[in-house]
Amino acid sequence: MSYENILVNDKGKVRIVTMNRKSPLNPLDMDTLREIKDAILNSGNRAILLHGANRAFSAGADINNFLKLTNDTAGVFAKEGHDIMNTIASYPRPVIAAIHGYCLGGGFELALACDIRIAHPETTFGLPEVNLGILPGFGGTQRLRHIVGETVAFGLISTGKRYKSDEAYRLGILNEVSENYLEAAEKLAEELSKKPKESIRLIKHLLRNPPDDMFEEEIDAFGEVFAYPDREEGVKAFLEKREAKFQD
Ligand code: COA
Repeated sequence: MSYENILVNDKGKVRIVTMNRKSPLNPLDMDTLREIKDAILNSGNRAILLHGANRAFSAGADINNFLKLTNDTAGVFAKEGHDIMNTIASYPRPVIAAIHGYCLGGGFELALACDIRIAHPETTFGLPEVNLGILPGFGGTQRLRHIVGETVAFGLISTGKRYKSDEAYRLGILNEVSENYLEAAEKLAEELSKKPKESIRLIKHLLRNPPDDMFEEEIDAFGEVFAYPDREEGVKAFLEKREAKFQD
């Protein structure tokens, strides 16, 4: 697939995906989301870093397309959006969002589908869809509720409130706030790209799914991870007082 809305750059074991739409705030249309999905799925890399060129991570789904949607086609649109967000959320490698400028609506939902969020202090966050007479349709209601709890999520989504990185960090939405958000994200991506891949895959799977059945799954996953050679290398390296060298 050739890309018109994103740039892809592989650095070591990290794939850097840059949203680069002609419009400066990176509004997300379905073509852009499909390209992001393709760039992630067709990566042999051990970690993905997603960020935006120009003035923003993304100011949301492309509002220009909304007038054309009917209640039938809006459902199809949301379904494909969900599938793409779920692809990112269930991708077995860590996906890190490096965020600046604006992270609104579908852009915020995209960031919420990632595993780690690192933002510049002056970033504006929010799910403002209610003020367009619609609602978040790419998984944002559920993912935000999962992170901040039902009470806070209802307050934020029903008002469409916008807030800065300090509040997003206080609410647990962000892992880190930094003037050097992109460098911090690259450093973490590189660190995670060297971790044992089966452990990362299973940790992500356990954290990404609802807790009901996950205690049993954790027991199974703990057993499973002992089948991989990285476990032996990790344990031996500790005992031999050296740095572990995990498999490519
Ligand atoms: N979809 C499509 N285009 C968008 C967009 C979106 N979600 N958000 C911004 N843009 C476009 C603007 O229309 C404008 O285009 P133009 O230069 O052709 O006129 C360009 O991006 C710059 O936006 P502008 O509003 O002029 O910048 P600003 O700095 O004054 O304001 C925002 C920035 C983010 C506060 C404002 O653009 C905004 O509120 N956007 C909508 C956010 C939103 O509701 N997102 C949820 C969508 S579901």
